[in-house]
Amino acid sequence: MIHVKSPAEIERMRESCRIVKETLEFVGKNIHAGMTTKQVDELVYRYITSCGAIPSSLGYGGFPASACVSVNEVVVHGIPSDRVILDGDIVSVDITAEKNGFNGDAARTFLIGNVSEEKRKLVKVTEECFFKAIEGLQAGVPLYDIGYAVQTHAESHGYGVVRALVGHGIGRDMHEDPSVPNYGKKGTGMRLKAGMTICIEPMINMGTYKVNFGSDGWTVTTADGKPAAHYENTVLIKEDGVEILTL
Ligand code: MF3
Ligand code: CO
Ligand code: CO
Repeated sequence: MIHVKSPAEIERMRESCRIVKETLEFVGKNIHAGMTTKQVDELVYRYITSCGAIPSSLGYGGFPASACVSVNEVVVHGIPSDRVILDGDIVSVDITAEKNGFNGDAARTFLIGNVSEEKRKLVKVTEECFFKAIEGLQAGVPLYDIGYAVQTHAESHGYGVVRALVGHGIGRDMHEDPSVPNYGKKGTGMRLKAGMTICIEPMINMGTYKVNFGSDGWTVTTADGKPAAHYENTVLIKEDGVEILTL
């Protein structure tokens, strides 16, 4: 069931999304080689709670932390651990915060120190995929145009589009209908409505699109061990365009 948000609900979404955006900025200023992914999680927990918000990921389906911290070949849902972040790594940090009953969700892939040209390009193209997806996006546009735009751009660079995980609606729950795949056929799917809030989150692999699910029940890695990048924003659909709530 799709929840179209009222103006009052959208105001609350703006607030939680602003906290998510600021938290990611705070992480971006503080993340560095030599720290563990657990220390990144501590930064996230500290910032979100200092805003009077709740880190929605903590305890979600049993997830043990406030942030998903995914290094290099880890696509998403990396569990913060004693893994040390190294110079040259790319690190995706994905966070969800709830305030006044509504959630915001976003992810960035950070470049740590001296990152290779080919990894930099992967991160750049992954961000571009998001912006291609919101080009012309507004009420009335078919849902799968989003995935079509992401897939077309990623595959034009020879990258693999993860299919096993998708974007989603968001609101009172972190994950609401509809699913928002990063692949698809133009002109298909439901037509978007003004007041829908969705997370568009390309997960792009340098090599194969295939992924493995870790025995810890969470960690998703590329099947070929090559790096992956992730970029996500919470987006409000409007009659005449979109508002990126986490940017
Ligand atoms: N933030 C993720 C998403 O983009 C989901 C986090 S899973 C959790 O959908 F277990 F960490 F909460
Ligand atoms: Co997320
Ligand atoms: Co999401």
